[in-house]
Amino acid sequence: MNYGYFDDKNREYVITNPMTPIKWINYVGTLNFGGFVDHTGGSLICKGDPALNRIVKYIPQLPSSNFKGETLYLRLKKDQGYKIFSPYFVPTLDDYDKFECRVGLQYTKYTTEFYGIKTEIIVFIPIGENRLIRDIRITNLNEETVVIDAIPVVEYTHFDALKQFTNADWCPQTLMSKLVDEGNGNKVLSQYAFKNKGVAENYFTSNMEISSIESDRKIFLGDNEYGTWQQPKSLLNEELSNTEALRGDNIGALMHHLGEIKSGETVRLITQLGQTDNIENELANINKFRDGPVVDQEMEKLATFWDGYLSKYQTKTPDASLNTMINIHNARQCYITKNWSRYLSLYQLGLGARGLGFRDSSQDVMGVLGNTPEEGRELIEMILHVQKRDGSAMHQFNPKTMIANEGDSREHEDRPNYYGDDHLWIIMAVCAYIKETGNYDFLNKEIPFYEKDSAENVIESGTVLEHLLRGIEFTYSNVGQHGLPLLGFADWNDTVNLRTGAESVFIANQFGVAIGELIGLLKELGKDDIAGKFEGYYDTIKNKVNEHCWDGEWFVRYFDSDGSIIGSSQNQEGKIYTNAQSWSVMSGFAEGDRAVQALDSVNKYLNTSNGIKLSYPGYNGYDEDKGGVTTYPPGTKENGGIFLHSNPWVMIAETKIGRGDRAYQYYNQINPATKNEKIDEFESAPYNYPQNILGDEHPQFGLGRNSWLSGTASWTFQAATKFILGIRPDYSGLIVDPCIPKDWREFTVTREFRGATYIIQVKNPDGVCKGVKSMIADGVAIAGNLLPVYGDGQTHAVEVIMG
Ligand code: NOJ
Repeated sequence: MNYGYFDDKNREYVITNPMTPIKWINYVGTLNFGGFVDHTGGSLICKGDPALNRIVKYIPQLPSSNFKGETLYLRLKKDQGYKIFSPYFVPTLDDYDKFECRVGLQYTKYTTEFYGIKTEIIVFIPIGENRLIRDIRITNLNEETVVIDAIPVVEYTHFDALKQFTNADWCPQTLMSKLVDEGNGNKVLSQYAFKNKGVAENYFTSNMEISSIESDRKIFLGDNEYGTWQQPKSLLNEELSNTEALRGDNIGALMHHLGEIKSGETVRLITQLGQTDNIENELANINKFRDGPVVDQEMEKLATFWDGYLSKYQTKTPDASLNTMINIHNARQCYITKNWSRYLSLYQLGLGARGLGFRDSSQDVMGVLGNTPEEGRELIEMILHVQKRDGSAMHQFNPKTMIANEGDSREHEDRPNYYGDDHLWIIMAVCAYIKETGNYDFLNKEIPFYEKDSAENVIESGTVLEHLLRGIEFTYSNVGQHGLPLLGFADWNDTVNLRTGAESVFIANQFGVAIGELIGLLKELGKDDIAGKFEGYYDTIKNKVNEHCWDGEWFVRYFDSDGSIIGSSQNQEGKIYTNAQSWSVMSGFAEGDRAVQALDSVNKYLNTSNGIKLSYPGYNGYDEDKGGVTTYPPGTKENGGIFLHSNPWVMIAETKIGRGDRAYQYYNQINPATKNEKIDEFESAPYNYPQNILGDEHPQFGLGRNSWLSGTASWTFQAATKFILGIRPDYSGLIVDPCIPKDWREFTVTREFRGATYIIQVKNPDGVCKGVKSMIADGVAIAGNLLPVYGDGQTHAVEVIMG
């Protein structure tokens, strides 16, 4: 079964059958105001904080046929009553003549036909605005004139998204709605919690005359809510009841009598769902967005933003699905993930206090630096604010309040309450930012460390560089009995939580990568003394890894506090872990035959047709000592599932040893665009990476889970653009170092870098995987494989011959 297709020309994925295996969503707006819309019109919208300022009620766990958040009803007047249906298919589920949902760049566009009525709807949030626009065009395709009513509906939630579900006493008592009649036919239906009056008032309105409203769900559905969203009883009446809810489950429903629509005629209805501190003061702005041309301009602005964003890196390779992902969908996913971290999706429900992850956002940022480096820097700065004075980091933080916490480690008193890897990611992110921009001044910027005194004043600040140096010192000075870095509560693998004193081979290698990057930067800065000291650190940890961690065919993953090994042939379960292999090659700690052997073991024991598993064999039973990993059945998530985030690290490692065929094979086997043809198995949306796919120890092998907000976005984008296509920034230029499949004869990359455009045409006449034989830029031969920084606003043509 196929549910849609890629339309690269319009930079959209087009869903043509609404009954997809699960809801497929798209993000609109930003964390400041935004959320997601699903492909059947539902929406989840928040302002500033999904946990504490949520506007729309969207319950992902309900079946797909259910009403979720928002919809639109259309009502055709018949001799006997009405024909009522939703152009979104849900919740009325009428037979459709046409269904098309175009998942675009921060907008979704629906075109459907029911009963001879064509409805086109564009849903988006104008850049910088606190309002969701639904731009609706209704066309009569019938030969005869029809009389139509349009009733857009939103269901509100209490602003405290968790309390909505935990306190059915307080929440419904405090919610209320009020109608603001502008006197000229226009009306605004406002809704707020009692304590938020004049502080945070939601509103729902349109550009047309509203003849009546409903704000009480009970009345809208009718029969004491034995009426349903599929057939709301109140829509059998000419008008809604005009109830301004004083409590209860608040909705906004707006009755529009569009009147007679002749054959071929189109009516345009524009709705706005927004939040403001004061409706009266907002009326002028609301009025502005009632104007069709203004809405059109805002859509154009959004398109212009994306034109700019995507133009920074475009490629043409022999693989059409890779092109689709790199040029459009993966690039978009990186930006969305950078904006939303792990805050709000169909899986991360944005309840409670998770906020942004130190580790997650540090990695996300690396996926946008080529496209929007200064937005990336802003996020890096924010993250550095929650680093601690000892160099370690708080695990997660709320970006509005900048209050941080130690994440899940708080739940275990007998385990360390820091994560051993967090602070090392930001070193890699800062180095990547400097390589991208050459903005060395950033390293001198003073940023406070997280700790505050009893009066909430900052205790100490340090330059960005000082933050990075402290991160290195923290890891280097917190080692265990094998001289390897301590795990803390966990490393990147959140779910392996060992006793205090356990060591992590992943962190050892991650330290190798981070310090390697930093040594390069320190040398650029002329700080050879610190660089020299760090080279000593690098060698020390490298020796420990090679001395203690080689198991014969692969590297082990952890030493527990009692010295027992995890990720070894001696173990019955969890014998081999992917990350211990990929990162030992990425760090340069594994060299020569060991590097090859470690990666061959990944191929032999961990690879599947749907991607590389995180470990093998899965743990087959709960083990309190190992922690969360053993709460999953074998083949799922971190317990031997295909955790996609880890796959690009193997791709990068393969390119380091020059095996382009394998790197590409690994890229291709997880590319969601290639799953379009077997989507009933994959289930997840084919236009972005899910976090994980069930592994071959699970009967539902191949099922994708947890789409959109995953570090997979950033790392696959980096693996493909910087290491397979091989165009990556360095301190003094742009490196050209492709590692591709042998049978690719040619590809092109257009890349913006420090104010100039490079059009790089790579030819591979000898059919090699790696190696640059010659390079000509603007007709001039360049020795080596580093393109200069032109910085002149011009376009430069580069021809590269591999061999
Ligand atoms: C998802 C978490 O958000 C991320 O921080 C972690 O690295 C991965 N799971 C792997 O455990």
